[in-house]
Amino acid sequence: MKWYDNAIIYQIYPKSFQDSNGDGIGDLPGIIQRLDYIEQLGVNTIWLNPIFVSPQVDNGYDVSNYFAIDPSLGTIDDFEDLLKEAHRRNIYIILDLPINHTSDQHPWFRDAVTNKNSIFKDYYIWKKQVNGHEPNNWGSFFGGSVWSKVHSDSDYYYFHLFDKKMPDLNWKNVEVQNSMADIAKFWIQKGVDGFRLDAFIHMAKADLGQMALSNSEKYPVDDTFFANLPELKKYLGGFVSQIKKENSDIFLLGEAASANAYQAAEYTQPEENGCDMVVSSDNFGEVYDDDNFGDVPKFFRPRKLSLNRFKNTFVKWESVLANTSFPALTWGNHDISRFVDRLNLPTDDNKLKKSLAVMMFLQRGIPIIYYGEELGQHGLKYEKLEDFDDQRAVDLIQNLRAKDIPDEQILELLNDQDEMTARGPFQWDDSQFVGFSNAQPWNWAEHSEENAQQEQSDPNSVLNFYEKLLRLKSTDCFTLGNYRLLKTDDNLFVFERRTSNDYGLVVVNISNKSIDYPLPVKFDCRIALSNQDIKLTNGQIHLDPWGCCALVNDGRID
Ligand code: GLC
Ligand code: CA
Repeated sequence: MKWYDNAIIYQIYPKSFQDSNGDGIGDLPGIIQRLDYIEQLGVNTIWLNPIFVSPQVDNGYDVSNYFAIDPSLGTIDDFEDLLKEAHRRNIYIILDLPINHTSDQHPWFRDAVTNKNSIFKDYYIWKKQVNGHEPNNWGSFFGGSVWSKVHSDSDYYYFHLFDKKMPDLNWKNVEVQNSMADIAKFWIQKGVDGFRLDAFIHMAKADLGQMALSNSEKYPVDDTFFANLPELKKYLGGFVSQIKKENSDIFLLGEAASANAYQAAEYTQPEENGCDMVVSSDNFGEVYDDDNFGDVPKFFRPRKLSLNRFKNTFVKWESVLANTSFPALTWGNHDISRFVDRLNLPTDDNKLKKSLAVMMFLQRGIPIIYYGEELGQHGLKYEKLEDFDDQRAVDLIQNLRAKDIPDEQILELLNDQDEMTARGPFQWDDSQFVGFSNAQPWNWAEHSEENAQQEQSDPNSVLNFYEKLLRLKSTDCFTLGNYRLLKTDDNLFVFERRTSNDYGLVVVNISNKSIDYPLPVKFDCRIALSNQDIKLTNGQIHLDPWGCCALVNDGRID
């Protein structure tokens, strides 16, 4: 067994967790101040979004120096203190490592463009223009073409899947694989326990001469050409083998946004040099509601929770990964609005928030909790369309206005769906800047009322419930037990977890009606967790609207 088989991960967006020096930007000393809170919550692993030196074009995912901490977040001494203080509390730290691209300010790229004989030229992807145009029509995730020129009179373009200030690395080049492994080893020596491999599924690209076939867009974004391609496993292996050779305990969490369950299994085969777990957006358990906004790109489309879709997704992920790796269990991250806004939930009742947490996290897999989720915190609500300034949002506003969709409707859509709303300050208390800072936070707008101080003193709060839930999750039954989803009617989500000693049963009612559910097996059980007052009568469990419970055997199983 590895330490991370029991991992319960807490994702911290460092800029938005706690500001310690009054500049409105969260920082590492701020996180240290809050470690007691994190320990009390019951998580044992922290994933930090990127903390390396960065021009912050993409909030740290554009790295210009991988060997130092961004000055806005602190110093290397602060980082060492954080590691020491976290480890003292038996909390592991994993760092976010952008490996698919660097910043255009990184010395490799600077040298590649200023030095004619640069050895770093081949660290990036270049292609000559064709008839004065880009070499192909592929679209970037951040809008426009994947190709840009450094100088307008140059014959060559460089490739960037994300922002044009984030050139992609050329992973065909073994030196790139080695350099990235050296970076990882530097941080391992400092004592970090693992990495999130950012956007790793994009490291391999198809033949750059292929054209995307969509007729409707000038630059279609088509994963066919740059996601989950076969060479990827070779590149990943070249990098991972160097890390794992001497540090087999390092946890590698791959970000595989568009991977399906089968691809996830391939990336996590235990005997190969891959990841230990991958997190994909396919297992969010959501449906896209295509009716209202047919023309809205997938990224912004309103979604609503469908229990059926959730069941089908998880039965698939659990089955496909059963003998390979743990599924990632998560309701969200920094790339998507908070799930309490995004999923168009039928009620904002705390009971439902608790039931959704039970339904997700007690399954087989490793929970990843997005900071603030444990409060039931909602996203920020911006006041006007101009507050959304990233290219994707700007394009969307333009397109919807052209279709005469009223501004208020666009604003509502963006407030429910845009990722920036999910990157607001953690709400510590009800003071002016929510206890996050005494200055205006870098990302700020109208916010919801939930806050940690109030919830700590309320025994029925979402926060207190998460604490109990995570304690239950860390028992063998809910960490290691087999998983079986039971066939039930549409409003119920029921699954069993079994080890040789334990039997756990989880029953969740996602409806506004009470339900009586007969126990599927006879067993002497105790109620381990519930968000209502549960009575077991005649082998039946009575569940209130939005009610849930987790039952565990007390010894004997029939
Ligand atoms: C990942 C990150 C996202 C970032 C992108 C480029 O998808 O989660 O925030 O913009 O990679 O690094
Ligand atoms: Ca600060």
